[in-house]
Amino acid sequence: MKKSSVVIAGGGSTFTPGIVLMLLEHLERFPIRQIKFYDNDAKRQELIGKACEILLQERAPEIAFSYTTDPEEAFTDVDFVMAHIRVGKYAMREQDEKIPMRYNVLGQETCGPGGIAYGMRSIGPIIEIIDFMEKYSPDAWMLNYSNPAAIVAEGTRRLRPTSRIINICDMPVGIEDRMAGILGLKSRKEMQVKYYGLNHFGWWSDIRDQAGHDLMPRLKEHVAKHGYIVRPEAEQVTEPSWNDTFAKAKDVYAVEPDTLPNTYLKYYLFPDYIVKHTDPNHTRANEVMEHREKNVFAAARDVIEQGTAKDCRFTADDHASYIVDLADAIASNTKARMLLIVENGGAIENFDPTAMVEIPCIVGSNGYEKVCIGKIPQFQKGLMEQQVSVEKLVVEAWISGSYQKLWQALTLSKTVPSASVAKQILDDLIVANKGYWPELK
Ligand code: NAD
Ligand code: G6P
Ligand code: MN
Repeated sequence: MKKSSVVIAGGGSTFTPGIVLMLLEHLERFPIRQIKFYDNDAKRQELIGKACEILLQERAPEIAFSYTTDPEEAFTDVDFVMAHIRVGKYAMREQDEKIPMRYNVLGQETCGPGGIAYGMRSIGPIIEIIDFMEKYSPDAWMLNYSNPAAIVAEGTRRLRPTSRIINICDMPVGIEDRMAGILGLKSRKEMQVKYYGLNHFGWWSDIRDQAGHDLMPRLKEHVAKHGYIVRPEAEQVTEPSWNDTFAKAKDVYAVEPDTLPNTYLKYYLFPDYIVKHTDPNHTRANEVMEHREKNVFAAARDVIEQGTAKDCRFTADDHASYIVDLADAIASNTKARMLLIVENGGAIENFDPTAMVEIPCIVGSNGYEKVCIGKIPQFQKGLMEQQVSVEKLVVEAWISGSYQKLWQALTLSKTVPSASVAKQILDDLIVANKGYWPELK
């Protein structure tokens, strides 16, 4: 089997050690000869880089390892670019979440005004990474899970339409793991799903077991009572904010009980509830900085100080194995069926063919083939048309530097009550994002 060379873009990410451990756990099916980290923040990456160097030296010394901020060094001789950058880091995520809250509008990493602001920051750097890949390793594939994936995907569709980039998200995987738990299955892979929508904005319309039996009725019965909480009577294993999200799926489901919803729909269907339950001075970004970021970097420091990763506190991000499934599907032509964010092109019959949609695809060495979805119902179609227009207007605003288009994007977001509130938020976001956004006229 051919051994792959992988560069992780966003080497200093809190997710990097977990991804490395996960890659090590799957070497049998996805063999690796080289891992490189690339980041534009040398200091942040160095800690993660040094710790992972020790870890790899101990657990897989045959894999060549390096970390760098030099694009030529990073992107030369690679087969896969796994990209998880966060443009502006947590400091800007905090702004994205807090600025809309000044106007009683929800602040979220990828939804509403926060997601729009993050999108405006991310398009340029993602295009830059694609260009590095194409310059130094023209046959490589970029597997992108940098957010906001919906806007990033539309940006790449417009600006680099023929590039070998696949955008993917772990939220459906995470929810499907919970569905498998609810059903008492060993793995989500025992289910075959039909799903459609936009990224962080979709629905399962059909879920069957390997024999073709319909699993939707049992799932619906559970979700109607408990959302995606697998064992309501047991102690919850996720952080409280995520737990609320999984529980809230119950109310999201009640609005549209023919399908099962992605948890992110709560931001669009219950924005007033979200605002009421958010502390405007302490948002998710603060939670992540106080916990995940602090813990991962402390664990890295310990590995470096002790000179060994034997008892390290890094944890394998096993649910991230969907990234290996994707790389493996391309490297070994497995024809795995996976949810990807791709150009619609008629897969959803009654929806904009140029929209970037999240649907099942069959993945092999030549890329992906889309599964035909057919016609979708009025409710989902209406919501999706509004949201996809927001995403397209953001990209249009980024390309043309248009204040007007971005104001329209914010005004059209279901999370924003009026054009005047949209304008106030926009004007604050422009100030906060100076140096990250193109100048708007
Ligand atoms: P993080 O801030 O810890 O890490 C991101 C890293 O990207 C930082 O080290 C930063 O310096 C680097 N970076 C920023 N701009 C860069 C650029 N232009 N070039 C190279 N590197 C750059 O963030 P995190 O919480 O670990 O998340 C990383 C990303 O992964 C985010 O975009 C997040 O939204 C995304 N994510 C996606 C999924 C998914 O399923 N799609 C799941 C989890 C996280
Ligand atoms: C899910 C989503 C990602 C998102 C993440 C946020 O995994 O699919 O797109 O980035 O949640 O998680 P966090 O812990 O950073 O709030
Ligand atoms: Mn996601």
